[in-house]
Amino acid sequence: MEFRPTLTILLHALLLFQFLGESKARHIAKPSPKEPLNPQLNIFFTPNDLKIGKTMPFFFAIKDPKSSPHLLPRDEASSIPFHSSHLPYLLEFFSFAKDSPQAKAMEDTFFHCEISAMNGESKYCATSLESMLDWAGEILGVSTKLDVYTTNFLKKSPVTLQNYTIMQKPKEILVPKLVACHTLPYPYAVFYCHMQKGENKLFKISLLGENGDRIEAAAICHMDTKEWNHDHVAFTVLKVVPGSSPVCHFFPVDNLVWVPSLSM
Ligand SMILES: *[C@@H]1O[C@H](CO)[C@@H](O)[C@H](O)[C@H]1NC(C)=O
Repeated sequence: MEFRPTLTILLHALLLFQFLGESKARHIAKPSPKEPLNPQLNIFFTPNDLKIGKTMPFFFAIKDPKSSPHLLPRDEASSIPFHSSHLPYLLEFFSFAKDSPQAKAMEDTFFHCEISAMNGESKYCATSLESMLDWAGEILGVSTKLDVYTTNFLKKSPVTLQNYTIMQKPKEILVPKLVACHTLPYPYAVFYCHMQKGENKLFKISLLGENGDRIEAAAICHMDTKEWNHDHVAFTVLKVVPGSSPVCHFFPVDNLVWVPSLSM
């Protein structure tokens, strides 16, 4: 029981990466002081960095939509069990060997989906767009129209880690709440959606990479980090302690951020 809250908090950082081989939070939880930081951790920043002309190294994974898992229609998704207790059946269903990397990834996905939410968090794993929209609607208000924000590559070189400069004044999207949906590795598209209580700010940020890359990035700033576990990777990366600074991060390109619509 001792380590579980830690794991759930770390999960939040973890979900930003979505790498098959890297799914257990503890592997990236505490980089030793001697080890260089995992380049994929270059997604964190603080509100102080949100200035025109600010240059920082950031990591943006390149996703090939052709090789991304397909979204299933709700009928089809709900005809396939989605629970760790069905893993042996599912491995057979998808023709994956018991000890394959795919089996491991599915197991990790179930772990993230079945672990209980941390304090002040609501979470849901969506196996279709319809179920994602239903859940986002429940959280944000069913009668509300929803808008979605994503990170868009306007121009992308193959270099994942490079220096980026903020080109325009970051635009804050003023929303009372938001639901962030991160992809999880699975044979079809599965999204881990969650909403965290507390003050969160959503930004659209124009970035120009040193290799000519142009990204319209969606980012969130968690303004109150007092309750966060001090082991959270963000604190190591930013060299701050819980409560001393808000923590911001970019969303990877295949994440979806749902907000109540601003247009009537
Ligand atoms: C970013 O620029 C700084 C300063 O020029 C340089 O030291 C650093 O290596 C660059 N980082 C990357 C990832 O290119």
